[in-house]
Amino acid sequence: MNDCILVTGGAGFIGSNFVLEQIATGGLVLNLDKLTYAGNLSNLASLQSEARHVFVHGDIGDRGLLRNLLSKYHPRVIVNFAAESHVDRSIHAPGEFIQTNIVGMFNLLEEVRVYWQELDQDSKTDFRFLHVSTDEVYGSLGPADPPFSEQNPYQPNSPYAASKASSDHLVRAYHHTYGLPTLTTNCSNNYGPYQYPEKLIPLVLLNALEGKPLPIYGDGSNIRDWLYVRDHCTAIREVMSRGRVGETYNIGGWNEKTNKDVVHTLCDILDELKPREQGSYRQQIQFVTDRPGHDRRYAIDARKIEQELGWKPQESFETGIRKTVSWYLDNLDWVQDVVSGAYKSWIATNYTRREL
Ligand code: NAD
Ligand code: TYD
Repeated sequence: MNDCILVTGGAGFIGSNFVLEQIATGGLVLNLDKLTYAGNLSNLASLQSEARHVFVHGDIGDRGLLRNLLSKYHPRVIVNFAAESHVDRSIHAPGEFIQTNIVGMFNLLEEVRVYWQELDQDSKTDFRFLHVSTDEVYGSLGPADPPFSEQNPYQPNSPYAASKASSDHLVRAYHHTYGLPTLTTNCSNNYGPYQYPEKLIPLVLLNALEGKPLPIYGDGSNIRDWLYVRDHCTAIREVMSRGRVGETYNIGGWNEKTNKDVVHTLCDILDELKPREQGSYRQQIQFVTDRPGHDRRYAIDARKIEQELGWKPQESFETGIRKTVSWYLDNLDWVQDVVSGAYKSWIATNYTRREL
C-alpha cells in the first residue's frame, strides 16, 4: 500500500481546505468529487500543476468507479467529506440528501469493505476510514442544556441531519459488524475561505456588498457554535493519525453565538474595511420568515478530542471571522465565478416565499 489518501468531496468548502493542507504534508491525494453545485475546482486552482493531486470527477455511489480507484491507488486512508450539506436545500428537496448521504454512503462503505478485507494483515491494521459528520445529528439544545458530548442520543430534526445521522449509523455498523477501522467526527458550524454563498456567513457578506437585504431567520436568537475551517481540518488530521479506531470525536471551538450577533459582527467588520457611502451595513438587516423546524441551539463539548489528542483551535471567533471577511474581500473573482445561474435560481426558490 502506498502513501495515498482518498478524499471524497475534496472540491467542496471543507474538503478543498483539507486537500490544500494535506498536499503540503507529502504523499498523493486522490480527490473524488461529483462537482455538484457546491463543488468547485477553482478552490484547488493552486494545485493545477501539482502531480500529487489527482482529481477524479465521479460519484461516491458509483461502485465500479470506486473499485477501480481503490485497486489502482491502494489508499491507506479515506476521508469522506462528500455530502449534500445545506439544511435549507434539504427542506425544499430532500431526495438528493437521501441519495448521496445514505445510498451513496452505503455504496462507498460496501466497496471499501471489500477492498479492506482483501488487504494483507499489516495494511489492514494501518487502514483508516474517517467519516466527516456534523453536530446537527444530535438535534437541538435548550438554553441551559450542556453542550453535545459524544454520548448524546441522536435526535436529527432536518432531512439533512437525518441523512447524516443515517450515514454515521452505517459507519458505526461497518465497524462493529465487519471490523472496518472507522473514525467519525461530528463538528460544529464551519466558516472560512471557499464556503459556498448559500450558508449564513458568505451569504451575508455578499448581500452586504451588493446592497441587498441581509436575511435573518426568525428573531435571530438561534445559536450556532462556530469553528474556523482550518481548525476543523487540523482536528481531522489529528483524528486520522491518532484517533482510536471505532470512536467518534466531537469537534468545536467553544464559540456559541446568536445569528444576530454573527451578522452584527460581519456588518461591523465591513463598516471598518469597506464602509458604505452612508450609514452602517446593519441597516440592510431584515428579519424574514423562520426556517421550518429551525433548531434553536447547537454547542459542542470538545473535551474528548482536547484531552485524548491534545487538539485545540488556533483561531478565536474574533480572529477567524476577520480573516474570513478579508479573504472574501480579496477574492471577489472567486465569488463571481461561484455565483452561477444555478445559485441564482436557488436563491429565488429559497427566498421568494419569505417575507423580506
Ligand atoms: P459542501 O457542500 O461545500 O461540499 C460537498 C462536496 O461534496 C462538494 O464538492 C460536492 O460536489 C461533493 N459531492 C456531493 N455529492 C457527492 C457525491 N455523490 N459523490 C461525490 N462527491 C459529492 O460541504 P462542506 O460544507 O464542505 O461539508 C463537507 C462535509 O462536512 C459534509 O459531509 C458535511 O456534512 C460536513 N460538515 C459540514 C459542516 C459545515 O459547517 N459546513 C460542519 C460539520 C460537518
Ligand atoms: P447555515 O449557514 O445554513 O448552517 P446550519 O443550518 O447548518 O446551521 O445557517 C446558520 C444559521 O443561520 C442557522 O441558524 C440558520 C441561520 N440563517 C439565517 O438566519 N439566514 C440565512 O439566510 C441563512 C442561510 C441561515
